[in-house]
Amino acid sequence: MRIDKILANIGYGSRKEVKKLLKDRVVEVNGETITDAKIHVNPEKDEITVYGEKIEYKEYIYLMMNKPAGVISATEDLREETVLDLLELEDAVYQPFPVGRLDKDTVGLLLLTNDGALAHRLLSPKKHVPKTYYALIDGTVTEEDKSAFQEGVTLDDGYKTKPAYLTILRSGEIRSEIELTITEGKFHQVKRMFEAVGKKVVYLKRISMGPIELDNRLEEGEYRELTDKEVSMLKEGGGDFPASKGVE
Ligand code: URA
Repeated sequence: MRIDKILANIGYGSRKEVKKLLKDRVVEVNGETITDAKIHVNPEKDEITVYGEKIEYKEYIYLMMNKPAGVISATEDLREETVLDLLELEDAVYQPFPVGRLDKDTVGLLLLTNDGALAHRLLSPKKHVPKTYYALIDGTVTEEDKSAFQEGVTLDDGYKTKPAYLTILRSGEIRSEIELTITEGKFHQVKRMFEAVGKKVVYLKRISMGPIELDNRLEEGEYRELTDKEVSMLKEGGGDFPASKGVE
């Protein structure tokens, strides 16, 4: 395959921009500087570097990030820092995008990929992909809240939520600690579900999405590629994940 096509495919810009990179003598194949865009290279065997960084030719990239607070889950923004700004160039060139959104102040598991078909399946409301959140709540979370969430609560816009499973980890007078599994992704859903029962979420962290659990070795702001096993779990599920923890 032509070197300009390989570099353009993985996001180093248009063919014209790639030509400039070659002219700038920053591309090497097996240690030799390449300036000719027409040179044929075997991306599976030859070692290609750009600015000294080895590139790995692959069509898709799948990342899990422990999203920190203060950054937004968008692909670009004029003012705010986005999750894409946290990626290394070698990953950013694949042009991944976040699979769904977490609020600016929410932390935890965010998947990023350039596999549009998989992202679409994971986000499809028909697939009911379970998402589990850990949260700190102002006030006392009760067994009544648990039943209300199981039944479905009415949000501020009149929408009735699908059954959700609440685990009370610790219920205190001032603060409670919970886990909540939902199978939808309405705007600010967890916060609005607690508002519906008169309580306020003060800290929110997503800990799983479908079969993928947040790797607790990742500090906030860090990310890693999904393992082959994790990617196949995501794909095999095809998005049709079994009801988990009693969520129907
Ligand atoms: N629910 C929320 O309220 N916020 C999030 O970021 C995710 C789920």
